[in-house]
Amino acid sequence: MAKANAVRHFLDIDRLDSKTLRRMIDNAHDMKKAGLKVPAKMRPKGIEDKVLILIFEKPSTRTRVSFDIAMRQLGGTTLALNHTDLQLGRGESIADTARVLSRYGDAIMIRANSHDTVLELAEHATIPVINGLTDRTHPCQIMADIMTFEEHLGPIKGRTVAWVGDGNNVAVSWMHAAARFGFNLRLACPDELMPSKSYLDWAKKEKAEISVGIDPVKAVKGADCVVTDTWVSMGDKDATRRKQILKPYAVTDSLMAKASKDAIFMHCLPAYRGHEVSESVLEGPQSVIFDEAENRLHAQKGVLAWCFGVD
Ligand code: CP
Ligand code: NVA
Repeated sequence: MAKANAVRHFLDIDRLDSKTLRRMIDNAHDMKKAGLKVPAKMRPKGIEDKVLILIFEKPSTRTRVSFDIAMRQLGGTTLALNHTDLQLGRGESIADTARVLSRYGDAIMIRANSHDTVLELAEHATIPVINGLTDRTHPCQIMADIMTFEEHLGPIKGRTVAWVGDGNNVAVSWMHAAARFGFNLRLACPDELMPSKSYLDWAKKEKAEISVGIDPVKAVKGADCVVTDTWVSMGDKDATRRKQILKPYAVTDSLMAKASKDAIFMHCLPAYRGHEVSESVLEGPQSVIFDEAENRLHAQKGVLAWCFGVD
């Protein structure tokens, strides 16, 4: 949990309390309603002098562009870097990089290969660090997903979300969110690709309403939202095997038909049609994927505003 005067890192959903997360989402909704350029009275104090540093160790379309534009629409500026442009790529330590960047910028958003890189950066930075996806989690995505769910179906508390496919980084952030936002999460993943036991143990300890199994039909039955993601995440090496074992987890029209009749379909994108989801579901009336992508922009304004001191 964040301490009163601590640097406001946004590292993972499980590290923040429900109230703080709820305020970030509500603030994001309010800023979205107010228009793309955030009105002066809703902006963090002194934002016009602040610079958000963006670092990417892996490719990105949505995270890169939405953070860059969100920061500008909040009234600040950005500096985007590939990690190969930095001495980090030649072996300078993460700790030294964190301390140097803290002398120049006002916050760092990083997409990293290893989660430990983000944690180490945050440990040594004196400015907020935001996790823009790691091998373990993708919290900014799920903030946008919660926002999207609520725009379409109302409060997420007590509702049911079904995750079908790989128990990957995005699935883990959904688990964190189920505990903090109080919804039921049903995961259907092949045995080999279940989220690791430590996350399941955490969920139990938090008394989160999370069930795990291998049957996609059971998970989706009556659900309000069906979510999936690519079968091969950035950094995964066993693409052929993954595609084989995940075949029964494709989200098709017949699987969607088992969900509630008003259910929505979400996918963080990029999507691979004919693999984890059929073209007809992705482009069909239940799909809200482009609202979800748009909400990265708005949800991250909520995250940035919080990092810069807005409660
Ligand atoms: N969903 C998502 O994070 O997309 P990018 O990889 O394009 O940033
Ligand atoms: N699970 C995917 C998400 C991409 C936004 C990956 O890590 O590549």
